[in-house]
Amino acid sequence: TRVTDGGMGFWKSMGVLLVVALLTIVPLKAVGAESAHNCGTMDCDEIQTDVTNLPSLQRGAQTYMNYCMGCHSLQYGRYQRTANDLNIPEDLFEQYLKFDQSAKIGALMTNAMDEAEAKKWFGAAPPDLTLVARARNPDWLYTYLRTFHADPSRPYGVNNRVFKDVGMPHVLAELQGMPECAPGPVQAANGGILRDPLTGEDVLFDEKGNALNPCGSFTYATEGSLTPEEYDAVIYDLVNFLEYMGEPVQAKRKRIGVYVLAFIALFFVFAYLLNREYWKDVH
Ligand code: HEC
Repeated sequence: TRVTDGGMGFWKSMGVLLVVALLTIVPLKAVGAESAHNCGTMDCDEIQTDVTNLPSLQRGAQTYMNYCMGCHSLQYGRYQRTANDLNIPEDLFEQYLKFDQSAKIGALMTNAMDEAEAKKWFGAAPPDLTLVARARNPDWLYTYLRTFHADPSRPYGVNNRVFKDVGMPHVLAELQGMPECAPGPVQAANGGILRDPLTGEDVLFDEKGNALNPCGSFTYATEGSLTPEEYDAVIYDLVNFLEYMGEPVQAKRKRIGVYVLAFIALFFVFAYLLNREYWKDVH
């Protein structure tokens, strides 16, 4: 009996170990998932996308077709599917959102940009963006599209805080205006913002008067047609649209999932009753 006891003890302690492991690792992972994504020189600004918000997706599609489609195709999606999913009547979509007159409504959303030429113009060909919300992530896109800034040393006069030395010009400058770098707050070692212990003000410069974070905030030399809040809303809708493009069936999949779970729950009742009926006379 000693031997069996020893065996039991082993499995018991393994059980305890498993519980401890689950209790420590699982919450840690959850915390990890919450922390901000890395956005180059800064933490990403976070957003909550919602692919069931059709008005937002429609506005996003409008921005995309007007400002991005010329350079970035969406070649794994079709005009018609997008129109239908977004609840935009096909004739209106053709008239106002499909600028490629030669493409049929059922066609893939390609564009006419020549890759080799584009490489000469921008240093890198503009990638297809159908899956970019999945290759990157919505927070990254949201931050990237709001952090272009003037930089005279670059070929198109702009740089980006998230994607350093990016080949893309600031195509939404007429909306946002052209941001210029100004000194901004820096992170302290404890993860917060570095402040002067006496005055409580953000520390922007070192002892020699050099900016610690030369591009930590923006000023606007040229104003855009939108306020910063309006611009953020436009970018939110645009990223929401790209999130939809990355997985068009997403909203439907989640809706069906609810029905499937409800069916399983209901089925469980009958399965349970039937099981009880079968075994009634056996015991
Ligand atoms: C004039 C052409 C042009 C237009 C218009 C344009 N882009 Fe770009 N974009 C580029 C180029 C070129 C790159 C590649 C830059 C590089 O790799 O250096 C790029 C890169 C990107 C990337 C990074 C892709 C990655 O994962 O590396 C994203 C995201 C992006 N563009 C989004 C947009 C959005 C959204 C719009 C519309 C508001 C837009 N672009 C309009 C030329 C353009």
